[in-house]
Amino acid sequence: MRNYKILTICLLCFFLISTTAQEKKIWDETKEEKEERLAWWRNDRFGMFIHWGTYSLAARHEHLQKRDRINSEDYQKYFDHFNPDLYNPKEWAKLAKAAGMKYAVITSKHHEGFTLFDSKLTEFKVTNTPYGKDALKEFVDAFREEGLKIGFYYSVIDWNHPEYTIDNRHPLRPIDVNDIKAYKALNKDRDMAKYREYMKNQVTEILTNYGKLDILWLDFSFPGETGKDKDDWGSVELVKLVRKLQPEIIINDRLDIVDYEGGWDFTTPEQFKVEEWPRRNGKKIPWETCQTFSGSWGYYRDEMTWKNNRQLLGLLIESVSKGGNLLLNVGPTGRGEIDYRAEDALVQMGDWMKYNSESIYGCTEAPKEFKAPDNAVLTYNPTTNRLYIHFFEYPLQKVTLKDMKGKIEYVQFLHDASEILVQETRKPNYMTFYLNGKKQNNDVDLILPIAKPPVEIPVVEIFLK
Ligand code: GLC
Repeated sequence: MRNYKILTICLLCFFLISTTAQEKKIWDETKEEKEERLAWWRNDRFGMFIHWGTYSLAARHEHLQKRDRINSEDYQKYFDHFNPDLYNPKEWAKLAKAAGMKYAVITSKHHEGFTLFDSKLTEFKVTNTPYGKDALKEFVDAFREEGLKIGFYYSVIDWNHPEYTIDNRHPLRPIDVNDIKAYKALNKDRDMAKYREYMKNQVTEILTNYGKLDILWLDFSFPGETGKDKDDWGSVELVKLVRKLQPEIIINDRLDIVDYEGGWDFTTPEQFKVEEWPRRNGKKIPWETCQTFSGSWGYYRDEMTWKNNRQLLGLLIESVSKGGNLLLNVGPTGRGEIDYRAEDALVQMGDWMKYNSESIYGCTEAPKEFKAPDNAVLTYNPTTNRLYIHFFEYPLQKVTLKDMKGKIEYVQFLHDASEILVQETRKPNYMTFYLNGKKQNNDVDLILPIAKPPVEIPVVEIFLK
């Protein structure tokens, strides 16, 4: 009898475990298949984010409708005046490419719900504005022509859809954002199920009408009683649909299903520098940091906190040094141009990338045996077995590399392929010799020119043995 009981319990446990495991799987793919699917993205490292929509006319942050609690009628003026006469995505694509960017992710729809594409499911779309054309189609054609990979950002949040229930981030949220009763009253005629259906159909539109896409960037969940999570979005169903429609697409992680296998491909630290390569369950995971030039994603005329060239290059180099990507945002104006400040910044980054992109593309975190000198950052290309040292502070002539004796084949500056002399064996002076006994000194010195080369962040390339 006792054995029988234990057996039943075991069977029950097995059943529970196996059904939960099944439920947590969205997509069947081996580790190797995933590696292969993400290979181009991991290699390319640098992409352009584009936030462009009706909020670009207000020119004071893409969240202005929420921040200023603007209702749909009052927000309509931006839609009615959306007429970007200078929109020429070929210019955007050329600028991105010259900056060294390899892919671009554009807001097909942002939180305000306006679509940059000709959706059959809404009237709140670009083709109904004075502009009148499918801006997304023009973007896709132009960027593809320049050989850049294409990504669509799609906001699951929607502030102008009549069925989207009001939550704590909605423009019409109650004054007391914790007042549960108030939400009930506000939402009595709204039905999230209908909105979910709308979203599914719209995601189908963008994934079927623009050819093969490379990235889908879904934004975002804010779980909680007055927020929204995977059940509100129908995330599991949505991602299953995405995988079916575009099996090679790469998806970010903001739908609140990070514990689902196949529910996401990379994580998205936003507007901060990670301390180290992000992990999940102890394992390093693919990641991309998204960053603005100046704090806002949409065009913000009066924003003054622009990062300088050195800081921007720092974001790129440091991301790669920890195994990640950088998605750097531009917020084009209401006339469809990339702001002159963003353009200047991109041109400067391009100057650096023209000479130094080998330390970015195909590179990743350097193996632990290599130690960066002071104020320098390492990247490493595992295919070519080359190590790159980025000097954020240019050293005074001599740089010591720890434990590098016997590992170096050749060293040069990356920007002009000029040789850097290496002193392999330093004679131990009397004291070190005395203190360390007969121990050899395994450090190596690089002898750099005194004058800093005319490169914002000079890079030394080490061909390893
Ligand atoms: C946040 C913001 C949004 C922006 C996004 C980019 O989620 O709400 O405006 O599009 O970050 O990562």
